Amino acid sequence: MSRQGSVRTAVFSLFSICFAHVVLHARAQANTRGFISIDCGSPPGSGYVDVVTWLPYVSDAQFVDAGVSHNISAEHADMIDLKLPRLYNDLRSFPTGARNCYTVRPLTPGTKYLVRATFLHGNYDGLGPGGLAVFDLHLGVNFWQTVNVSSVSDPFQAEIITVVPDDYVQVCLVGKKGLGTPFISGLELRPLPDTLYTVVANSSLSMAVHGRYNLGPDDEKLIIRYPSDPHDRIWKVLANLRSWNPTNTTGTVRYIAQDQFEAPSAVMQTAATVDDGFSLRFYWDAYESNKELDYFAVLHMAELTRLNSSEARICEIYLNNGLWYSKPFSPEFRYANAVSGMVTGSTEYSFRIEPTANSTLPPLLNALEIYVMVPTAERATDGGDVSAIMGIKAKYEIKKNWMGDPCGPKVYLWDGVGCNYAISSAPRITSLNLSSNGLDGEITTLLSNLTALQNLDLSHNILTGKIPEFLAQLPSLAILDLTGNKFNGSVPESLLKRSQEGALLLRIEANISSISNNQPKGTKRNSNTAVIVAGVAVVVFVLVVVVVIATLCLRRRRTENDPSVRPLNGSNSKEDDGDAVSMQFDNRQFSYKELKTITNSFEKSIGKGGFGVVYLGYLEDGTPVAVKTRSESSSQGVNEFLAEALHLIRVHHRNLVNLVGHCKDGQHSALVYEYMSEGNLQEKLREKTPECLPLTWRQRLRISLDSAQGLEYLHKACTPPLIHRDVKTANILLNGSNLDAKIADFGLSKAFNNDLQSHVSTRVVGTPGYLDPEYYTSFQLSEKSDVYSFGIVLLEVVTGRPPILPESVHIVQWARQRLAKGDIESVVDDNMQGRYDLNSVWKVADLALRCTEQASSQRPAMADVVVQLKESLELEEGCERVHGSYTGSGSGSGDGYAERSDAASQSTQSGRVLDLVSGPAAR
Ligand SMILES: *[C@@H]1O[C@H](CO)[C@@H](O)[C@H](O)[C@H]1NC(C)=O
Ligand SMILES: *[C@@H]1O[C@H](CO)[C@@H](O)[C@H](O)[C@H]1NC(C)=O
Ligand SMILES: *[C@@H]1O[C@H](CO)[C@@H](O)[C@H](O)[C@H]1NC(C)=O
Ligand SMILES: *[C@@H]1O[C@H](CO)[C@@H](O)[C@H](O)[C@H]1NC(C)=O
Ligand SMILES: *[C@@H]1O[C@H](CO)[C@@H](O)[C@H](O)[C@H]1NC(C)=O
Ligand SMILES: *[C@@H]1O[C@H](CO)[C@@H](O)[C@H](O)[C@H]1NC(C)=O
Ligand SMILES: *[C@@H]1O[C@H](CO)[C@@H](O)[C@H](O)[C@H]1NC(C)=O
Repeated sequence: MSRQGSVRTAVFSLFSICFAHVVLHARAQANTRGFISIDCGSPPGSGYVDVVTWLPYVSDAQFVDAGVSHNISAEHADMIDLKLPRLYNDLRSFPTGARNCYTVRPLTPGTKYLVRATFLHGNYDGLGPGGLAVFDLHLGVNFWQTVNVSSVSDPFQAEIITVVPDDYVQVCLVGKKGLGTPFISGLELRPLPDTLYTVVANSSLSMAVHGRYNLGPDDEKLIIRYPSDPHDRIWKVLANLRSWNPTNTTGTVRYIAQDQFEAPSAVMQTAATVDDGFSLRFYWDAYESNKELDYFAVLHMAELTRLNSSEARICEIYLNNGLWYSKPFSPEFRYANAVSGMVTGSTEYSFRIEPTANSTLPPLLNALEIYVMVPTAERATDGGDVSAIMGIKAKYEIKKNWMGDPCGPKVYLWDGVGCNYAISSAPRITSLNLSSNGLDGEITTLLSNLTALQNLDLSHNILTGKIPEFLAQLPSLAILDLTGNKFNGSVPESLLKRSQEGALLLRIEANISSISNNQPKGTKRNSNTAVIVAGVAVVVFVLVVVVVIATLCLRRRRTENDPSVRPLNGSNSKEDDGDAVSMQFDNRQFSYKELKTITNSFEKSIGKGGFGVVYLGYLEDGTPVAVKTRSESSSQGVNEFLAEALHLIRVHHRNLVNLVGHCKDGQHSALVYEYMSEGNLQEKLREKTPECLPLTWRQRLRISLDSAQGLEYLHKACTPPLIHRDVKTANILLNGSNLDAKIADFGLSKAFNNDLQSHVSTRVVGTPGYLDPEYYTSFQLSEKSDVYSFGIVLLEVVTGRPPILPESVHIVQWARQRLAKGDIESVVDDNMQGRYDLNSVWKVADLALRCTEQASSQRPAMADVVVQLKESLELEEGCERVHGSYTGSGSGSGDGYAERSDAASQSTQSGRVLDLVSGPAAR
């Protein structure tokens, strides 16, 4: 206690000395390194030096003109200076306005900056967790990231590396309806040399921190930043690693000149390694909300002890089972090496650093950076247009979505505003439609400042006064609609002239009476004529325009309806299902000759289905397909076979194997499906080959959830609904490195009509072990029969065992007995080696038992199964995640995750080698 007190006193006196220094420099805003440090919500004109970094901070008052300052509550304020920077003492909240922006200037255009926004709620509003908020951050007009402040007491940080195109940068907070009041605690800008992070080369692409971790320190709360890192990056400890071994040195770890990352020695001096013979693994998930984003990973490595001649640390780096870095790699003694590169196109990025056979030491990793690439190519609207339109908004009190930049981002384009987006210059406002907005009073002169305006529609308002002369001065104005207002006076000659010359389409109908009635006597006749002349010109012009547009539309419509360009599968009534659209094929009719070509004369058989042999083929564009032929001996008739084909055309879902096309050519008939590269779930669970790693619990859960969603879709979303009738692990196919799962062979399904009956009583083609026991008494199948079969699938997933065990015991009976005694360990597949969240496994086991109840009425519906599986997946992921200790919620949702792997020998599945932007720094 007393020791702490004395430290604080010492700090305080230093602080007082530095304060005067800060006040002098507050105007200049940046210290000598060009750092700009803004404490949001602190009183105007105030400034101080932070006691941890010794960097000067200033109030945000000069950078923002909206929002309300708050202090965080007393109980949270106690943490400040002890645990957290003073920055977090206060904040600015934005209860009004959809988008509020900080404008930070002056900056040097074309400079690379690290921009960091920080957030600590600290119960400033007395609402506790009820006051938490989710909102978006924008960098200028570009989306940066979503901020989800999910804890009152943990700070949240968002960081982006970007090239600033102008002499200022805007950081905007964009609220989301019903998700709380946006707020911000601090804004920090750190210029970076051009040589750092060269993947960010210009302002069109930036990168946001997904995670930046220091590995190996024994203090999990350690934060390394300025001055240890001269660029003031924040390095948090990747903590709670399961069995990684920390190692460290006190010797300095250097980096070469022109190093792309300049990892600070303090970070590189500690590292994590693993036990001999093990590989070092970590992974992260793509953002749930946008799986298309690219990531950039940097793996920092340096040898910390001098190795003797008989020792060697050589490793290979794999990503999602493919070799990521092309050569075996040895970290250098006390020199920072980094392997970095873009990683894309997956939903989970799983890295593995493996020792090579001749390595005597296990792999090591000193630090890790993961970034998400953020496109930032959009530019802000022309400044003159912005101030004019803001004035117009205020004058007419326009209540639309008119907040922030009028033209950008394009998704937030203001209602009624149209813009021209040029490549080399700022967007301009080119059209303004304020028709029927209840505008009253006169036409504002501010319109004359919108100098790029081409189309102005003020029709059907209650505008009064004279039609102003200045409208004729707008150089590009081509269409002016003033119909249905209450103008009086005459139409300005200049406007009439432009209209008569054909340069302007002028519409002023329904103003005529008011204009003529209110005419001063002397000009009445003249203006009436003017109006009529204008009216006639307008009518003729409008007619011409209408005819031209109508012709164009008709032509367009015709092309759209042309059967030759229309997909044949247009009949699916549920195609608007968000999930259903991603993998759409046109159902195509193949000739037998074509099938022969695409399968290279039925060269490669990949299995045997209910109808006959299945062959691998490639479409003209190289897309692999599975061709299911109908064999002569097949019990199913040709017509039945093709009826199924037509039936399937309308079924499209992310988790159902897609029908690409079919063939009926004389004797021959076949169905062509999308090809699933990873085989089926049954093989994955049973086969134990060296190149086939056992599925993790997480993978099993994902596969189960995917297939449950496919079945749910068949049951509920298809019209008429379908019963699969042959749900089994062999009918769950897997694709790609993520093992995306899809249900296959629902070709056996028969449509059943919900209105008449909830079951079908036709011939069953089920599989022993999976068949609903009720069927033996009722000879009827319903959706609940699929639920039963799916319950068996879940039991296989948990246990890794087949439905009929070798000792001829049914899996349900076997599992029920053990689970009834609370004995889950003896049930769970040994191949998972205990690596799962117990609650998650219990939940699935329990769900499987409910699905396999004897009485179908007691089984859940597929929709319920989906919900339960999602919860299980959350349990598992909640358990696996590791958070940085500084924020509690990580940076963004960038939660690194780490685990130790199985023996390193189970490694080399060949896979896609990713594009590397750079390898280890060359010397
Ligand atoms: C925050 O606290 C400081 C002193 O602790 C006080 O001067 C300031 O007015 C407070 N700000 C607000 C917005 O209450
Ligand atoms: C915010 O995070 C919390 C907890 O991490 C989560 O439950 C919630 O769904 C998130 N909200 C949004 C809108 O993403
Ligand atoms: C920005 O850099 C990328 C490559 O890093 C390049 O393809 C692109 O053309 C550049 N854009 C501009 C506007 O210079
Ligand atoms: C370095 O390792 C030693 C021994 O394992 C440990 O006592 C020490 O705390 C470590 N230092 C750091 C900075 O992690
Ligand atoms: C090298 O170091 C290892 C471990 O420190 C030791 O076991 C081995 O004997 C050393 N070999 C030589 C040749 O010095
Ligand atoms: C170690 O083995 C790798 C192949 O696994 C080989 O490329 C490398 O040259 C070997 N290194 C040494 C020092 O033997
Ligand atoms: C409109 O343009 C004039 C002349 O260029 C300028 O003085 C005025 O400030 C502008 N008004 C607004 C609101 O931008």
